[in-house]
Amino acid sequence: MSKDEKTSVVSGFYKLSVKKRISFVKDFADLSGEDEKVFSSHLNIETADRMIENVLGTFEIPFGIAVNFVINGKDYLIPMATEESSVIAAASNAAKIARIKGGFKTEITDPLMIGQLQLLKVDDVVDAAKAIMDHKKQLLDLANAQDKILVSFGGGAKDLEVRILDSPLGKMIVTHLIVDVRDAMGANAVNTMCEALAPMIEELTGGHVRLKILSNLADKRIVKARAVFDKEKMGGESVVDAFLESYTLASIDPYRAATHNKGIMNGIDAVIIATGNDSRAIEAGAHAYAARNGQYTSLTTYHKDKNGDLVGEIELPMAVGIVGGAGNIHPKAILCKKILGIKSAQQLSEVVASLGLAQNFAAVFALSTVGIQKGHMGLHAKNIAVMAGATGKQIDKVAGQLIKEEKIKLDRAKEILKNI
Ligand code: MEV
Repeated sequence: MSKDEKTSVVSGFYKLSVKKRISFVKDFADLSGEDEKVFSSHLNIETADRMIENVLGTFEIPFGIAVNFVINGKDYLIPMATEESSVIAAASNAAKIARIKGGFKTEITDPLMIGQLQLLKVDDVVDAAKAIMDHKKQLLDLANAQDKILVSFGGGAKDLEVRILDSPLGKMIVTHLIVDVRDAMGANAVNTMCEALAPMIEELTGGHVRLKILSNLADKRIVKARAVFDKEKMGGESVVDAFLESYTLASIDPYRAATHNKGIMNGIDAVIIATGNDSRAIEAGAHAYAARNGQYTSLTTYHKDKNGDLVGEIELPMAVGIVGGAGNIHPKAILCKKILGIKSAQQLSEVVASLGLAQNFAAVFALSTVGIQKGHMGLHAKNIAVMAGATGKQIDKVAGQLIKEEKIKLDRAKEILKNI
């Protein structure tokens, strides 16, 4: 069976042994025996020592797979690295509901990043801004001379914009260099170009360039994902209404929106980390975008369609790369990209946005019905059982009893363990 025909739907995946889960993923993603070894490998200390400074070791977090995703008609298993329980199960469950109505559909812009050059100490900001724009072609040519490879792939500096800002220091000019970074996250390419342009901008304006750096508010590199969630599967139209009531608070109140968006980032960060991308860049871009209209709000929107089903949409900046950076060095990140079968940064963005929407749907769905604690209880009870001293089969026995009694407490776990 070709990879494109394989399904990401597996019932009871969580009940399988780790070995069987790996075997399923291996088959789904056509992984080799060498790839398979990476699941149980650790980041080599020499590699780690080259990645950051003052290395002491490596820091492990759990790495799992979200199942059931269909995005733009294609099945995906989504690798996620996270320390938080219930996140992967919740995403998988949301994806299962979404696929009833065709799964996730996405839209994406070109991969355009913005570099900023802050210009100070000019006599006349209007003249200076004009001088910059009059030399747009020369400036773009100079930027593109810094990265011939990017240009050869169809990317490179595409446009220039000038903004005049009032500040406590007086007026300043901020030049935005718009760069198509293709399959890279783009920070290196953009920062190099900005630094190269600074002397020319100073010469043209007589001013002084201070900052030359990429903006993480990547609002020209936007991805949108949409899914319809079946009302029957959700428990009927009254549940859809309850969901919409919950969502409404996130749309009007920053206190709720922050938590709502945190739930989105539970999924997004996990795949961003698994693919070796920069989670801080994605977080910064997402939250700044959420406040783009002057009030911090939800990154997702929801409404009911004419059938009474719930329609969910997410829209956010997505500065991810599949070339360069840690994603090309860390063996697990390389493996995760193979599992995803992604061919471009845009395709990865589409997966990330869909996962974010799924994660958000799952959280708000739980909050609107049974509450969030129920889902957390299974793994929490197991952790408490381990803390009480349970090992091997005792863990499930103690945890099972704690859940039955709806009392997930360490002292009770110790008592149960004593009586086993
Ligand atoms: C917990 O990690 C995330 C949630 O708080 C998100 C939400 O409230 O929507 C459950």
